[in-house]
Order: sequence, then structure tokens, then C-alpha cells
Amino acid sequence: MAQRIVVIGGGAAGIGAAGAAKGTDPAADVIVYTEFEFTIRNESLPIRLIPAYNLDQQDPMTKTAVIALGGNALTRLGQSGTAEEMAGNAAAMAACVNDVIEAGWRVVVVHGNGPQVGNLALQQEATTAVPAQPLALLNAMTQGELGSLIATAINALRGPGTAAALVTHVTVSRSDPAFAAPSKPIGPFFGADEAPHLAQARGWVVHQDSGRGYRRAVPSPEPTGIVEIGAIRALVDAGCLVIACGGGGIPVDASGASAAGIDAVIDKDRAASLMARLLGAQALVLVTAVDHVMINYGTPRQAKLGPITMAEAERHLRDGQFPPGSMGPKVEAALAFLAGGGEWAAITSPGLVAATLSGEGWAGTRIERSPSRVGQGQ
Ligand SMILES: Nc1ncnc2c1ncn2[C@@H]1O[C@H](COP(=O)(O)OP(=O)(O)O)[C@@H](O)[C@H]1O
Ligand SMILES: [Mg+2]
Repeated sequence: MAQRIVVIGGGAAGIGAAGAAKGTDPAADVIVYTEFEFTIRNESLPIRLIPAYNLDQQDPMTKTAVIALGGNALTRLGQSGTAEEMAGNAAAMAACVNDVIEAGWRVVVVHGNGPQVGNLALQQEATTAVPAQPLALLNAMTQGELGSLIATAINALRGPGTAAALVTHVTVSRSDPAFAAPSKPIGPFFGADEAPHLAQARGWVVHQDSGRGYRRAVPSPEPTGIVEIGAIRALVDAGCLVIACGGGGIPVDASGASAAGIDAVIDKDRAASLMARLLGAQALVLVTAVDHVMINYGTPRQAKLGPITMAEAERHLRDGQFPPGSMGPKVEAALAFLAGGGEWAAITSPGLVAATLSGEGWAGTRIERSPSRVGQGQ
């Protein structure tokens, strides 16, 4: 029999209202939200969901930060991607997520999956004993893999059940020009000598990636919508720390169907920016393997960017300072977020997130919609 659920507010009034709701609709299952937890009652066991925050102490004006954790910071340059390496990196990510919560923000987490989904794609080709799965489903697998690692790391700091990872589908247009020009690097790095051979033998497009080596590149279409946005919003409003849009989301077409048909990896920075706009978040924090965005990156004239205006970021983007597939999507995602009403966006490493958030001391790159603070610090 289908369950009917009534959601009631907190405290004694909520419990009273729960009784009243049950009175008018005796068949309904009732969720009572008390100060620190939710109880979903059905005929067997109550299920408790623990909010990440003390909602009673949470100011209704609390600001929301969407934090996107880089796949290349979850498997760092030179690492092969063992479970232990990823768990260690996830712990550093969780510490910075915790800093943001401690600073009084409501947080939604997104994660990348470039190295991990590429590794999984290689594993598909390593055997013919079982069928290889399409890229969209590999993305779904990495949402489980990395969602679990990140939730476990956050829970280790804030208590079991704090973080919940949601399998998320993101819509793209099948006519997106990105399908004709693969730009998103995935999987391991190869040397210049191996790159042409791999391209030919495996039918890959192979690109140089930010001076770090050569990698397989796949199409990275623009996200146009988030299928589960209603569920994400409900969980955020309920005080849960949601991990969503992992790996940019599982690409689906506008009808929400046929995930397996779309061979692409959406850039998680673009998906995070879209989610931040749809949630009306104030801050977008892109956590990656470098402390700062640089101009003249990888040259002797390399210089880090501290607090900058949107106009400055746009100018550097137009000047070709930020390559496609890595820093380009980050700066574009930040600018789209700010143009859509966000207050500021940060691009930095896990260790500098707290300082960048507070705008004090030695911090990472911060792009501001209102230029009031720009020119200070650094
Ligand atoms: N102008 C730049 N400033 C800083 N880093 C850059 C720049 N251009 C390219 N990069 C590279 O972009 C990387 C971040 O993008 P990416 O590899 O996609 O990481 P993530 O997995 O966090 O999205 C940096 O680690 C650096 O190697
Ligand atoms: Mg990236």
C-alpha cells in the first residue's frame, strides 16, 4: 500500500499538529520534525534523519554556499587513484567543508570525477568477460563512489548521517556544439610519445592538459537543468547537507530519458554554478588543486589573482588566460553565477577556503559581484 506522508514543523506545536493531521487523515504516515532530527514513521521502524545544522539556532537569513570539490584534488597529480589516496584527499576536502559550516553557512556539496570516471572507462576496456558500460552510467557509478567517500569524510567530522549523496541527472541539449569538440580531460595522464598512439588505437581524442601531460578528452556540454532540483531544495531547506550533481551530473536529454545514449561528461563547475543559481545561493566555492587562479600560468611571468572584479575576470578570460577543460570552465561558471545574482565566487585549494571565505589574510582567488572589497588583502 502506498504511504501517505504529512510533514509537520518543529517543537511541541509540530507534535500537536502531527496528532491533528493523523486525526484528519488516519492512513497517513507522519513526519515530525523536532529540534534536532526528523522521524519518519511507518508501520515498522522510525527512520531518523539528522540535520547538519542546529535549525533552531539557524538564522533564517543564513546564507548558502555551494562548494564544488575538484576531481583532480580527489586524485592528485602523481597519484594512481587508490581508495586510500582518495579517502585521504576527501578528508582534506571535508575539513574545508566543515570550516564553511562552522563559519555559519548552509552548504551544498558538488564533486568532480574527471580522473575517476576516466579510470573507470579504462577498466571497462580491460576485459571482454563482462560488457563495458557507457560513459553516462560510469558517471552514475562515480557519484556513488565519490559521494560515499565524501559523505564518510564529512560524517567523520560532524557525526554519522550528516551528509547524504543524491544521484543526480542533469539535462543537456543533444545539439550542443560541445559534442563536436571534446574538451573535458578524463582519466590518467600520458606522455607526449604515447598520446598519438592512444588516440589511434583506442579512437580517443587526446589533448594536452594544462602542462600536466596528455589525457583523453570527451564532450562536455552545457548543463541546462537539474532533474532532481526539487528534492535537493527540500533537503537543503530541511537542514541536510546534500552532495549532488557529482561529476557534473549524469547527462540526460531534455525529456530526462536515455542516459545511456549521451556520451559526455558535464563539467562539475558548470553544474555547480547552475545549482547555485537555482538554489539562490550567495557563494560558489570551487575547491581545486591550486591555491589561486593565475595569469600567464606556467610561464616565468605567472602571477596569482587575489580579490578581483567580474570585469577583470572577464578580461582575462577573453585574453585566453584560462584553458578549456580546466580553469576556463571554473572562471566561466563563477561569472555565470555572479551574473545570475550570486554575491561572490572563490577558486582555491582546500587549505585556503576558510581564509578566502572570510576575505582576511592570505587567501585564494575571489571574484566579487560588488567590487567593494576588491583591492584589499593579499
Ligand atoms: N590560469 C590558471 N591558473 C591556475 N591553474 C590553471 C590555470 N590554467 C590551467 N590551470 C590548471 O587547472 C587546474 C584546475 O582545473 P582542473 O584540472 O579541471 O581541476 P578540478 O578537478 O578541480 O576541476 C589546476 O590544477 C591547474 O593545473
Ligand atoms: Mg575541472
